[in-house]
Amino acid sequence: MKLLFNFLAVILFFLDNGVSSVYTDRVSVVEGDSVTLCNDIKINKDDDIKWYFNSTRIAKITGDQSEICTDVQCKERFRDRLKLDHQTGSLTIMNTRITDSGDYRQEIIRSSTDSSKIFSVSAYGVFADERDKSVMEGKSVTLDPGETKNPNYLMRWYFYDIIIAEITGDQSKICTDDRCEERFRDRLKLDHQTGSLTITDTRTTDSGDYKLQISSRNSSCSITTMKRFSVSVTFPDSDLSAAAVAGIVVAVILLVAAAVAAGVVNYRRRSHTLVQQNVSNTYS
Ligand SMILES: *[C@@H]1O[C@H](CO)[C@@H](O)[C@H](O)[C@H]1NC(C)=O
Ligand SMILES: *[C@@H]1O[C@H](CO)[C@@H](O)[C@H](O)[C@H]1NC(C)=O
Repeated sequence: MKLLFNFLAVILFFLDNGVSSVYTDRVSVVEGDSVTLCNDIKINKDDDIKWYFNSTRIAKITGDQSEICTDVQCKERFRDRLKLDHQTGSLTIMNTRITDSGDYRQEIIRSSTDSSKIFSVSAYGVFADERDKSVMEGKSVTLDPGETKNPNYLMRWYFYDIIIAEITGDQSKICTDDRCEERFRDRLKLDHQTGSLTITDTRTTDSGDYKLQISSRNSSCSITTMKRFSVSVTFPDSDLSAAAVAGIVVAVILLVAAAVAAGVVNYRRRSHTLVQQNVSNTYS
């Protein structure tokens, strides 16, 4: 499914660049993740910025003022999930839903020239178990972004707000933060090809939210997605109880077998005595 999306994205990319003259960026996002739509144009103080979703205006920046969702329909659709950045003019859609799919158009209005850019967003679902990992304490767990790595991407892994790993081009860094060292010392592995993160020798304190931020490294403001993963490290207690259950089952089987064996012996012994008695009766 993901491959198909990537494939389509590539085809659409070439179509866009080859045939159409409309400046459009295709953005794929997984339901629940956040996406920041940003144009790599330096924003001036006097610029007016308007954001449209499928041709309905959803946000506006004029000077120091900003407005998000002025009509009921927009409020119902996005509620508190939109964020504007004054500095960059970017729009962030948080906790995306499949129904957020559509065209987001940014208009930058300035006295000299206006510019307009369309971000075509497709939000799609993902199986929960790809993102919500449960692991027994001591085992390893791998968080896989399911992306085709692009050398121009900056990938940054977070555990809550702590940066724990980073890939830029062919460079990668793990645990440059003291808080990361304290928590994960020597227990993180990064796959340079896929960007996937492995936590080895897990502890229950590793449970929680992991996030992967992916953006284009060369521009000051680029389309940025924030992928959310959740890890739950379970106590080996459940492992012990599984062993205990197995032990009980074996014990019961042995008991039943012993009882059956004893029963058979008893029955044989009794029938044997009966026969003997019969025999002695006939001859007496
Ligand atoms: C927005 O446009 C897209 C693409 O045309 C369409 O699939 C989607 O249903 C539209 N959404 C709304 C709410 O109009
Ligand atoms: C990105 O930046 C690197 C240097 O940091 C440069 O070599 C490369 O050409 C840039 N790529 C683009 C697409 O601008």
